[in-house]
Amino acid sequence: MCARMATTSGRCASPIACASCSRPTATYFVFNGTAANSLALAALCQPYHSVICHQLAHVDTDECGAPQFFSNGAKLLAVAGEQGKLTPASIVEVVTRRTDIHYPKPKVVTLTQATEVGTVYRPDELRAIANTAREHGLRVHMDGARFANAVAGLAQGTGLPTLFPVQANGVFVHLPSRVEDGLRERGWLFYNFIAAGGARFMCGWDTAPETVDRLLADIRELAAEFA
Ligand SMILES: Cc1ncc(COP(=O)(O)O)c(C=O)c1O
Repeated sequence: MCARMATTSGRCASPIACASCSRPTATYFVFNGTAANSLALAALCQPYHSVICHQLAHVDTDECGAPQFFSNGAKLLAVAGEQGKLTPASIVEVVTRRTDIHYPKPKVVTLTQATEVGTVYRPDELRAIANTAREHGLRVHMDGARFANAVAGLAQGTGLPTLFPVQANGVFVHLPSRVEDGLRERGWLFYNFIAAGGARFMCGWDTAPETVDRLLADIRELAAEFA
């Protein structure tokens, strides 16, 4: 594993963050994404350290206490941020908030690419975060559970209001309740996204373009029927 850029695959996923890293990398297969995140973060932290993450980050919201358990107690410091993203300013705020011995010393920034709301960090955003991390002696970890999707786009076109820009494999959309019920009656499976109050549609690795087309056609039809 690259010490500067631990990823869920164990590979160095970001040529930006690792441009200056000459160390060889290794790949370790683990049971699941939670284990990958926990072990990578544990490899980067001592128990008195902390990990800066977005407040919607899977490591904080959906992994129980696994990252803390495997790192012998390193604390997650969750930060708000537009579009599900951390920024250099939000990271600096956490790092400089306190310096006393009772504050768990920030050691890692963890990013999810694509984010929990389906947006994607652009290379310039990653570069800026990596530079900030370097200036403050932080390591950068990337949760790459959706990394392949970060390079893919999902077509829109229903005319219904989306909650976040569509940049990867997820679409968050406000559906009139009758459209939502109609879609469920037609057998579509989706859930309501806790943080934003919309319906969340995701593509899996095996989702065919025709399936997306059928979904869009059903949404359009139901939206027209109940308009
Ligand atoms: C961004 C992200 N990271 C990590 C995980 C954890 O993966 P697993 O369920 O395999 O533990 C998930 C699972 O949904 C995820 O969405």
